[in-house]
Formats: sequence, structure tokens, C-alpha cells
Amino acid sequence: MVKCIGVLTSGGDAPGMNAAIRAVTRICLNKGIKIYGVRLGYKGLHDGEFIEFDSHSTRNIINIGGTFLKSARFPEFKDPKVREEAIEQMKKVGIEALVVIGGDGSYTGALKLTEMGVNCIGIPGTIDNDIPDTDYTIGFDTALNTIVDALDKLRDTSASHQRCTILEVMGRRCGDLAVHAGIACGAEMIVTSESGFDEEEIIATLNKSKAADKKHAIVVITEHITDVNELAKRIEIATGFETRANVLGHMQRGGRPTAQDRVLATRMGIKAVELLIEGKGGLCVSTVKGEIVGLPIQEVLGHRRVVNEGIYEDVIKLR
Ligand code: ADP
Ligand code: F6P
Repeated sequence: MVKCIGVLTSGGDAPGMNAAIRAVTRICLNKGIKIYGVRLGYKGLHDGEFIEFDSHSTRNIINIGGTFLKSARFPEFKDPKVREEAIEQMKKVGIEALVVIGGDGSYTGALKLTEMGVNCIGIPGTIDNDIPDTDYTIGFDTALNTIVDALDKLRDTSASHQRCTILEVMGRRCGDLAVHAGIACGAEMIVTSESGFDEEEIIATLNKSKAADKKHAIVVITEHITDVNELAKRIEIATGFETRANVLGHMQRGGRPTAQDRVLATRMGIKAVELLIEGKGGLCVSTVKGEIVGLPIQEVLGHRRVVNEGIYEDVIKLR
């Protein structure tokens, strides 16, 4: 059985990562497995930034956002020689297997390490909810609630000034944050890469809304689709709505994890260690209809993410 495990967080941080680290640590200690925290993701793995954890190490972090192990983007890890050097560092302290908490890029690193003989299990830690074959990723629910909070505030001022308010949210190429927040806040228009960007449709929807005597409007849009400040100017001309654009930015990644994220992170952390105890590697932990399962990373990364069935149709029904 595996005797020593490392845990790291990689890529963009996500609320709930600390709860996952805590669960991994506690289950290891309960099973008599040595557990090292690896600072700064794959960079720390390469540089040997290891901290041996005991039962005190992960106290009082379950409710804290970010990742107390710190995270990093370390493109050098794509180089097999750099990964070899990381494996040498792990050997020095006896780390035999790894739990990697991160997004799809981090999963790729975990798969490559597994192929080089170090069993790795991925846990989906990203606010974007952009990993295939899992209903939710850790951090999505917290980020969603942060956006909802922001949109509720924007609605106050948007209504007071009878304006159209555009809010750009994160998600990389995944529209889940935009679509869920847009539904939760009654947005007039939700634009994501999945729904497509059709400026005429946006303007037609806002004009229809105006014709129905609505005095203000909210548009939620996923990042990387268009320049929202320029879009605001065009909407203003085409609809007569005075329009303001907002980019919510990195505050979406911070804050106390919601209960849902803490529970998901805890259950996934336990599952990851159980899989390593079974001698498995190259898997990632997913939640599928409420069940926590291990799936092959290679297959998961080969799949296209399926958006919640019917969600875009529901959005359109309320326009
Ligand atoms: P995320 O994990 O959130 O998708 P990134 O795409 O930035 O974030 O990936 C996080 C880290 O994973 C990268 O900085 C790099 O260290 C590692 N990584 C990404 N792609 C690869 C790859 N093809 N091979 C090895 N490591 C990778
Ligand atoms: O993957 C999480 C995420 O916050 C994305 O939503 C966003 O596109 C990206 O990371 C931002 O990355 P950075 O923190 O490097 O600016």
C-alpha cells in the first residue's frame, strides 16, 4: 500500500481548495500514510518545496478561500526533463503518489506524471466548471454566489438610473458561471461561447424589453467574447438605453467557500486518497448525479463538456 502521498494545488485558485487539502491530509493521517503539502503547484514540486503535515497542519482552513499551499502556473512542467527533476525531488523525501487539485491543465500534468510512474489523482478545483464529466467543480458554487451578489448590487443602481448594465464574468471558454448567475438574477440576456455571440439578437431582445416598458436591463456575458466597453457604446446607440459595462475580474476567485463547495471538496479529497490506496493513478475525481467517482483523466480530457441539459432553452423561455 502507498506509504507517502503529496498534495498540491495548481492553476487558478478556487474557494474550497483548502477544504480538499484538509480532507486529503486527514484521511492520510487516519490511514497511517505520511502526507506532504507541496507549495506552489508543479513549480514547488520541481523545487522540492515540501512540508510534512501533521494533525495540526490543516486546522482552521476549511472556511478560508484561496489555497494555503499557494498555486502557480508553471509552463516549464510540459518539458519531460523538468518532470524528471520533480520526480527526483519527490524521491528524496519518499513521496510515492500525488493528489493534484486544479483544472484541465493540471490534470494533463498529473496524467504525464502517472505515465512516468508516479500515480496521480486529479481533483477538479476551478471556478470555471469547465471540466468534462463532472457536474460541478470545487469553487464554482462560491464564485457563482459572488457573481449573484454583484449582480444584485448592480441591479440596484441599474434600476435607479434606468440603465442597461453589462457584467462580464469569468469562465474561460465555459459559460456556466454566466448562465447560472444570469438565471439567478433575472438577466434580460445571457451571452456565452456555448450560446454564441449574436449582437443583433442582444439588441432585439433589449428593444423588446424596452417596448414592454422595462426601464432597465441586465446583460451577463462570459469573458473573452467581446470588448464589453465597446459593446456598451453600440447597445446605447441601438437601444437608447444608457449603458454601462463592468468586468468583475479576480474577486470571483476569492472569498469564503460556500457549504456546497466545502462538502464537495471534502468528499472528493477522501475519494482521491482511497483511489491511491487502491493503487490507482491517472484518474480524476468527479461528481456524477451526486455520486463521487474516479474516471480516467485521458478519457475525461478527450470529452467535450456537456452543458446542463435544457438550461439554454429555459433561459429563452423567459425572454
Ligand atoms: P488549470 O489547471 O486551472 O487548467 P493551467 O492550464 O494554467 O491551469 O495549468 C496549470 C499547470 O498545469 C500549468 O502551469 C503547468 O504547470 C501544468 N500543465 C498544463 N499543461 C500541461 C501539459 N501539457 N503538460 C504538463 N503540465 C502541464
Ligand atoms: O481558470 C480560472 C480563471 O479564473 C479563469 O476564469 C480566468 O480566465 C483565468 O483563470 C484568469 O487567470 P489569471 O489568474 O492567470 O489571470
